[in-house]
Formats: sequence, C-alpha cells, structure tokens
Amino acid sequence: MKPLLRNRLPQLVLTKTLEIAHDWKRPFVDIGCGKGDLLYQLKDNFNLIGLGLDYSEKQLAYVDNTYIPFIRGDAFSLPFRDNSIFTITCFNTLYNYPNVKTLHQFFREMIRTIAPEGRIIVDVRNKKNPILKIKYWLHMKIGNFPTVSHDTNELKNFFYSLGCSLENSIAIKSYNFLSPWGFILVFKKEKNS
Ligand SMILES: C[S@@+](CC[C@H](N)C(=O)[O-])C[C@H]1O[C@@H](n2cnc3c(N)ncnc32)[C@H](O)[C@@H]1O
Repeated sequence: MKPLLRNRLPQLVLTKTLEIAHDWKRPFVDIGCGKGDLLYQLKDNFNLIGLGLDYSEKQLAYVDNTYIPFIRGDAFSLPFRDNSIFTITCFNTLYNYPNVKTLHQFFREMIRTIAPEGRIIVDVRNKKNPILKIKYWLHMKIGNFPTVSHDTNELKNFFYSLGCSLENSIAIKSYNFLSPWGFILVFKKEKNS
C-alpha cells in the first residue's frame, strides 16, 4: 500500500485518462499540467499536441518546451478568448482545493473558454472509498494543504447551471478493490449556451 499513499493514485488517474483520450480534439489545454506527464503521453501515443498551463515555475521547469508547449498562468483567470478551446483537462489538481465553492471561478473560466460542444474533463477522488476517507482525514489533520474528495453531484449541478451536462463518468479502479478510487468526469458544453 505504501506507493499508493504517495503517487500511485495520480499515476492511475493518468493511465485511465489515456484510455479515453484517443478522440480528443484541439485546441486542447491541460490546466495544472505540472511536469507535463499527460501532455507527453498524449503526444507520444496519439500525436495530440496540447498546451500546458500551470502557475508553478518550479513544475514547469521540468517541461521541455521544444517538445511540449506551455504557458505560466492561473486557472482562475485564463488567458484565452471565450469559446476558443475544444478540450480542457485538469487532473490530480482539484482535490487540493478545500471545497467546490472555492473552485467556482476555476470552473467558470473553463466554461467561458470552452467552445460549444467542447469537453471539459476533470477527475475527482471518491468520497465513499474507505481508504481515501481515512487517508484524507489524516492528511487534513497533519498536512499543510488540503486533500479532499469533492461531491460529484455538487460539481455536476454547478456545471449544469452554466450550460454543461455530464456526458460520462468513468470509475478509476485497481487492486481488485471494489470501491473506485475516483472518477473521471466528462462535461460537454451545450450548443446554445
Ligand atoms: C498535483 S499536481 C498535478 C499535475 C498534473 N496534472 C498531473 O496529473 O501529474 C497539481 C498542479 O496544479 C497546479 N495548480 C494548482 N492550482 C492551479 C491554478 N490555480 N492555476 C494553475 N495551476 C494550478 C500546481 O502548480 C500543480 O502543478
């Protein structure tokens, strides 16, 4: 179990993501791209070139921008025009924000910039997974930043109120463990919103 407590789960999220990414369309932006792991995989596997965005200079220093384009920016104020992106992803990032309310502006910016019929794909940790419940409870007690499983319905309702429907919810499973570790949520911006 030890590796899971560090970075097994983020890796599992990215592995699951690659299973659904083959038909993603450009322009494509990965928000909170970190060291660009997903962007490298998408370019190598599907020749899909996305733009990475992250506010951490330290993380971006790992990305080779002759291979993967990236910009430094804040998800709460995206430097893109309205309706200009077709696919936006954000993985292993939302769970470090303490609640859905603190993410409203983050989501509003995604929805503003995504084109009608475009997709916003994010992951959430599973609130009902018993191991994560204990792990995150402990982390909230002793850690110096939040780790949280957000309520999928709360997210779904917020996106819905801004014209996006939940098209797919894909469980992230492993270790023959019955309870998923999380879900990849695919939101579609409706044509007339
Ligand atoms: C845990 S890392 C995940 C990196 C990558 N998505 C992955 O799955 O490997 C979270 C990243 O989100 C970035 N991040 C968090 N909040 C952000 C914001 N408001 N704007 C831009 N980047 C943000 C952090 O700097 C960090 O690189």
